[in-house]
Amino acid sequence: MLSTSPDSTFNNSSQFVEGWYWALPARKLKVGKVKAVTLLGRNLAIYRGVSGQVVAMDAYCPHMGAHLAEGKVDGDRIRCFFHNWQYDAQGICVDVPSLGKPLPVCVKTWSTAEQYGMIWVWVGQEKPRKLPFVPELEQVDCDYLLGTRFVKNCHPNVLLINAIDAHHFNTVHNLPLEIVFDSQNLNSNAITFSNTTRGGDDSGLIRLIRPLYGNEVTYSMCYWYGSTGTVTLGPDFLHFYIIFALRMIEGGKTEGQTILVTPKRFGCLGWGVNRGLLWLTQQVGNYFAKGDTQVFQTIKFDLKTPTKADQSIVQFIQHVNCQKALVWGTWKADEKQ
Ligand code: FES
Ligand SMILES: [Fe+2]
Repeated sequence: MLSTSPDSTFNNSSQFVEGWYWALPARKLKVGKVKAVTLLGRNLAIYRGVSGQVVAMDAYCPHMGAHLAEGKVDGDRIRCFFHNWQYDAQGICVDVPSLGKPLPVCVKTWSTAEQYGMIWVWVGQEKPRKLPFVPELEQVDCDYLLGTRFVKNCHPNVLLINAIDAHHFNTVHNLPLEIVFDSQNLNSNAITFSNTTRGGDDSGLIRLIRPLYGNEVTYSMCYWYGSTGTVTLGPDFLHFYIIFALRMIEGGKTEGQTILVTPKRFGCLGWGVNRGLLWLTQQVGNYFAKGDTQVFQTIKFDLKTPTKADQSIVQFIQHVNCQKALVWGTWKADEKQ
């Protein structure tokens, strides 16, 4: 089943994969503040209590429906602006001032996490699984920098396949070598595609730097929940890491944020080196984005005629379609599954 079937989760504007999705940059949510965030068709109030803990809850107050982001954070709780009912971090009503006691009502809350300078929300009915990470950095302490925030006129699934569209590296990015991907399932929600070709010996630059590294130049992409991709790129002595954190917005379009990552290096020198490396990583990311921008504004994705070079794309479509899908806005399981 490829992208044309209405039952396919891949490239579907009314459903998405249960998983972790980025909500907002962590530094934009100060202690004691609350923000209104719309995520995958659902309105949320996300606040940071005095303990620093981030709480995400459905936006509307069970009393009369006021948006809780109009309210005030009070310790680790939130108080609705309208009639001052108060809810704790589990969303349980703990105070109705006019009655002098709480009522047995609650607001639905969602698990959150903070990683790579981002606040992430677990959008799912089951208990949270792993946050997206770069496979070779799973146990590594990292520095990071938020890169570009962007909106694209196509579905996140479609935008992400650009990184494993082997043929387009030659036609669009003029890369003088053949790319062949090998795929590996990391878990049921994550799949890695790694380039296996060494190639590039014709290029003077490659010949010059060849003695500096043992193996091929690494290029691999790890997809999480069909919506976040982590790229690892570079020769053995210096890998660059870029996370493309995407989410679907109204009309099946994409809002995304790049996150640049590098392992922590210690001391003042390490700090300086990492600033430079993160800046360089941003340039690598920009290079990736260049050349493809226009096609994603106009594409009507439909892989009617897959060739051998499109094999990884077909695998990714199947991987997305195997995951649990939820419905846009309700966040309930898709009944058809
Ligand atoms: S609407 Fe929230 S307390 Fe009345
Ligand atoms: Fe590209």
